[in-house]
Amino acid sequence: MSVSKQVKRVTTHVLQAMKTEGEKISMLTAYDYSMARILDEAGIDVLLVGDSASNVMAGHETTLPITLDQMIYHAASVVRAVNRALVVVDLPFGSYQGNSRIALESTVRIMKEAGAHAVKLEGGAEIEESVKRILSAGVPVMGHLGLTPQSIYKFGTYSVRAKEEEEAQKLLQDAQLLESMGCFALVLEKIPAKLAKSVSESLTIPTIGIGAGADTDGQVLVTHDMLGITKDFQPRFIRHYLGLFDQIKTAVEHYIGDVKEKKFPNEGEQY
Ligand code: KIV
Repeated sequence: MSVSKQVKRVTTHVLQAMKTEGEKISMLTAYDYSMARILDEAGIDVLLVGDSASNVMAGHETTLPITLDQMIYHAASVVRAVNRALVVVDLPFGSYQGNSRIALESTVRIMKEAGAHAVKLEGGAEIEESVKRILSAGVPVMGHLGLTPQSIYKFGTYSVRAKEEEEAQKLLQDAQLLESMGCFALVLEKIPAKLAKSVSESLTIPTIGIGAGADTDGQVLVTHDMLGITKDFQPRFIRHYLGLFDQIKTAVEHYIGDVKEKKFPNEGEQY
C-alpha cells in the first residue's frame, strides 16, 4: 500500500517518506471551506492556501496586494474543512522580507489564528534569516524558488526562470541552502524540466513542481486553473480537468430562464 494511503493525517514526515518510497505528492490550492472539503475528501496530500488568492479570489493583477489578515481569513476557512491534508499557508508579500522578527510574528499569527500546519516563503539566500527564525520556533517551512510571483516587478514577466546557467546555479545553491536550514519541502515554479530534475535529485527533501516537468517529487496546480474556472489563464503547464467556467455559466443561464419563465420553484419546491 502507498505511504499516503496508510496515514490518517499527512504530516511533513509523511511527505518525506513519500519521497523516499518514490510516491508522488499531490498538492492543490484552496482558499475557502467548501472547496477545501471537496479536495480533502478526494484525498489530496497538501492544501496550499496560496497568495494566488489575491488573483483568483480578489481579482488583483498580482499577488502583492493580499494582506496578512486576508491570508489568515482564507487559511482559517480551509483549516476548518480539513481532516487529512497538510495545510501550508503562504506568507504574503511584506510580511517576512528583510526583517526576521516580523517574519516570525506573521508566522505566529498564521499558526495561532488560522491553525495552519506550515508556512511557505518565496526566495533563497535573501530570506535566510527569516527562514531560520521561523524554523527556530518549531514551525515547518516550505521554500519556493524559480518564478516567485511576489518579485514580479523585479523580473518584469511571468516567463520561465533559470534558463541561463548563472540563474540555474543560484537556484541550485538556494535549494541546497533551504534544505540545509531545515525546510521540509520546496516548490519549484516554472523552470526547465531538466533543472527541476537535477535539483530534485540533489535534495533529500521533496520538491513540488508547477510548470517544472514530471521529475519533481510532487505536483501543484491552482485549483481554479485545473477546474477551468479561471478561463483566460492558459499557460501550457495547466491541464484542465473540467471546464467549470462554461459549465457554471450554462447552469446559471438555465436557472435564470426557469425564474423568468416561472418554472422555478415548482410545487415540490415550496412549503
Ligand atoms: O500562491 C500560489 O498559488 C502558489 C502556487 C502557484 C505554488 O504559490
